[in-house]
Amino acid sequence: MADTPRAFVVGHPIGHSRSPLIHGEWLTRYGIDGVYSAIDVPPQNFAALLVDIRAGKWAGGNVTIPHKEAAFERTDRHDDAAEAIGAVNTLWMEAGKLVGGNTDAYGFSANLDQRLSGWRDGETALVLGAGGASRAIIHALLEAGYKRIDIANRTVTRAEQLAARFGNKVAAHGWASAEALISGANLIVNTTSLGMEGQPPLELDLGSAPSGAMATDIVYVPLETPFLKSAAVAGLKTCDGLGMLLHQAAPGFARWFGHFPEVDEDLRKIILSDLAAVHA
Ligand code: ATR
Repeated sequence: MADTPRAFVVGHPIGHSRSPLIHGEWLTRYGIDGVYSAIDVPPQNFAALLVDIRAGKWAGGNVTIPHKEAAFERTDRHDDAAEAIGAVNTLWMEAGKLVGGNTDAYGFSANLDQRLSGWRDGETALVLGAGGASRAIIHALLEAGYKRIDIANRTVTRAEQLAARFGNKVAAHGWASAEALISGANLIVNTTSLGMEGQPPLELDLGSAPSGAMATDIVYVPLETPFLKSAAVAGLKTCDGLGMLLHQAAPGFARWFGHFPEVDEDLRKIILSDLAAVHA
């Protein structure tokens, strides 16, 4: 009998991760004999974990803060998304090589495909924020065919670095320009931590958004952020960020456990009730 496949999510700290709940639900649902666990590994021990994967102790795993760049540096090969984004969130072995992939852009697009019909018809996007999530989302928007992407960020140099990375369809702006860019945006994406429980809200006047404009957020606690609420009031179609978390998990599950899992309403409810219990 083959060994039970084992996968992990590695971070430091890792206590907040919802990944064990997501993968645990799928393992149960599909009756798969597999194990998925959260492991707390400090940066100085990360290389040893990669040795264990190469030795067959693990089928692979998810990588989160602060290891995404180290995983990029230390893998034998990258998938196209990881190469474009410069960070790895999913590890697996393929033909004796340790491969680093990035499923965040896939998660972003798959969420909108499921819940924000028409988003692929947009041509211009305004991306608020220039951190790691922003990088993945800009890649996803370019893949979806967006012709122009404006990044507005508090620290304009970070936006400029991203614009330089992604080429001439992407332009960098300071935070003060965000409101003026709304009138030209078919899709507005918050990738900052503003609006997250315990953080200040993202306050933008969305009144000048063009007709048919849409908005989405990477923050999912609360599910309806102040930004999404004001977007809905201004008449924009909106989509919350929980689905990005759920969908980014699916490709890794398929690699390690051999079945591409479904993101459905039942899974959303399980994660939502866990979030409600933790944040009560
Ligand atoms: P992640 O990898 O999750 O995207 P990050 O790299 O810490 O996280 O990026 C967080 C983003 O939220 C950044 O764009 C940050 O702006 P800076 O680059 O100027 O730090 C943005 N952000 C956080 N707090 C903010 C605030 N109070 N006002 C405006 N932007 C904020």
